[in-house]
Amino acid sequence: MVLKNIGELETLQRSLRNEHSEKKKWVAVCAGTGCLASGAESVFAAFEKELKERGLKKTHVSMVKPTGCRGFCERGPHIVIYPEEISYQKVMPQDVPEIVEKSVKKSEVIERLLYTDPVTGEKVVRDTEIPFYKLQTRLILGMNPTLDPSSIQDYISRGGYSALAKVLNKMSPEMVIEEIKRSGLRGRGGAGFPTGIKWETTRRARGGPKYVVCNADEGDPGAFMNRSTLEGNPHSVLEGMAIGAYAIGASEGIVYVRNEYPLAVKNVENAVRQAREYGLLGKNILGSNFSFDVSVVRGAGAFVCGEETALIASVEGKKGVPRQRPPYPSEEGLWGRPTNINNVETWANVPLIINRGADWYSKLGTPGSKGTKVFALVGKINNTGLVEVPMGTTLSKIIYEIGGGLPGGKKLKGVQIGGPSGGIIPADKVNVPIDYDSLKELGAMMGSGGMVVMDEDTCMVDIAKYFLKFLLEESCGKCTTCREGIERMLELVTKITEGEATEADLSLLEELAGIVRDTTMCGLGNTAPNPVLSTLRYFREEYLAHIKEKKCPAGVCKALIRFSIEPDKCTGCGACAKACPQGAISGEKKKPHAISLEKCIKCGICYTTCKFGAVRRG
Ligand SMILES: Cc1cc2nc3c(=O)[nH]c(=O)nc-3n(C[C@H](O)[C@H](O)[C@H](O)COP(=O)(O)O)c2cc1C
Ligand code: SF4
Ligand code: SF4
Ligand code: FES
Repeated sequence: MVLKNIGELETLQRSLRNEHSEKKKWVAVCAGTGCLASGAESVFAAFEKELKERGLKKTHVSMVKPTGCRGFCERGPHIVIYPEEISYQKVMPQDVPEIVEKSVKKSEVIERLLYTDPVTGEKVVRDTEIPFYKLQTRLILGMNPTLDPSSIQDYISRGGYSALAKVLNKMSPEMVIEEIKRSGLRGRGGAGFPTGIKWETTRRARGGPKYVVCNADEGDPGAFMNRSTLEGNPHSVLEGMAIGAYAIGASEGIVYVRNEYPLAVKNVENAVRQAREYGLLGKNILGSNFSFDVSVVRGAGAFVCGEETALIASVEGKKGVPRQRPPYPSEEGLWGRPTNINNVETWANVPLIINRGADWYSKLGTPGSKGTKVFALVGKINNTGLVEVPMGTTLSKIIYEIGGGLPGGKKLKGVQIGGPSGGIIPADKVNVPIDYDSLKELGAMMGSGGMVVMDEDTCMVDIAKYFLKFLLEESCGKCTTCREGIERMLELVTKITEGEATEADLSLLEELAGIVRDTTMCGLGNTAPNPVLSTLRYFREEYLAHIKEKKCPAGVCKALIRFSIEPDKCTGCGACAKACPQGAISGEKKKPHAISLEKCIKCGICYTTCKFGAVRRG
């Protein structure tokens, strides 16, 4: 069905809305990657079967709908029964008959499937009442829980493609650029470059054809917000790209998505096909003079291919290696033509801004950073998942209120923000509002929004080693200082964790960090020293303890830890001896036990097994 003009889009929107406004119940089954991994497909099939067998499909339930990621993936599979919004977590296929009997037929709530607040112990019926969701402002992820990502009709019925229609009908390209500039939107891919200015530069660049690209590479360890957006609401990204292309004067777009995201690839490819069928991509969109089409290119999954010039090389079929800038892609990008690259989340912001206006948008956030930001909250935190909050929200609100604090009553040590290019914010800075500028001041970076919470059992030298290892593997090797420098830095950090480094090694590490930062060509090398520099900035004494005292204060670096048993605390229960895989623990029943240092492989099982705190790690 090709929509020939804006009137036809509006008519379709109205009729779809009428169809969906019936009061019948419907069941949303999350079909994001996280929930699918924990069995959502069989839950979906169980609903279909149960409703069919009981003949309830027409009488009681209008549909069972697969929807996008709700962000709380660790508690999947998630289902919600509408219109009551009864929300169940960790649902198994065997729960389905009871759900149908009680919740679908009689609107009764099954207590055992509800969310239990870990702080108050209370059961919560609706997602909107769970602190994890209640305190968020979900604009980018807002539609995910109720939208079927495989249905363009579902997107259209919620006002989808109205922003594109508005732009084509009422706005010149210059007006669109002005609106985006006024909104204050900055790129969500890391550096936070003002989006409107980038669009304007590409529009003004000479030559053509021009291209727009969606960067869906998302290679940062722990980050999955772009994946969830593309999986859960692919049309919002395509609509944003079409608006951007109109403003810039581009007629072709590319979604560059890593092949390790098969569901995102499937859903976005399907969305492109549907948008073409409806005439929302292709020639003379909605009867206008504007023609624009999108193709999907799959990346092989190299972190450096997220760097824009490497991404361009990869799309062109060359080795995904960065090149010197300038010229910037906005002047000389894909096939040497002006190219505008934006991140998934940046594109998904565009329809919101056009629909609700720059004035509305610029009221959200801080003076320098507008709108919301999606963070992937992971690590030592009770509620892991995707968190969308207005820019300027404090880290402490995210960690303690939305994230529910740290498990086991452990103390917060720091938060790694922005993946390998970012840095660590120490616990005493968690009241700082999070935005592009405050993070930079603290020596970190927004990056794409990875947020790893670390407790007192985390060794900051070990963390620096982890990121250096990752970056060493991912460096393309073009610049000597990146190729060799990261390796030398890793050697030095490893020496520190093994208790074999001197203070001279620490000075050398700092000197090298400065050289790698200043002499490499692309952002990977420029930011590679960040994990070292930011841990040194806030946790220098921990490096010194490894070097001078040959101790790992967090008890993580194996070479520096010794397990021993405190005789006055040991009850002689024998639990540790049973658990030790090496037979390194001996002792008579009800008498203090001892660990043989020769046999001990420092696995730490005794430490976690002992209920009396008798095993000492130091
Ligand atoms: C090593 C490296 C990896 C990057 N990975 C990504 C990525 O996965 N996704 C992304 O949008 N930007 C990534 N970037 C930033 C992009 O190069 C580019 O700045 C961004 O896509 C621009 O979009 P924005 O203005 O919307 O942020 C990366 C940069 C570097 C240096
Ligand atoms: S800085 Fe590193 S990743 Fe970037 S171009 Fe140079 S060698 Fe390659
Ligand atoms: S588990 Fe603890 S209390 Fe029991 S024997 Fe081992 S050290 Fe002693
Ligand atoms: S995939 Fe279901 S909540 Fe994320």
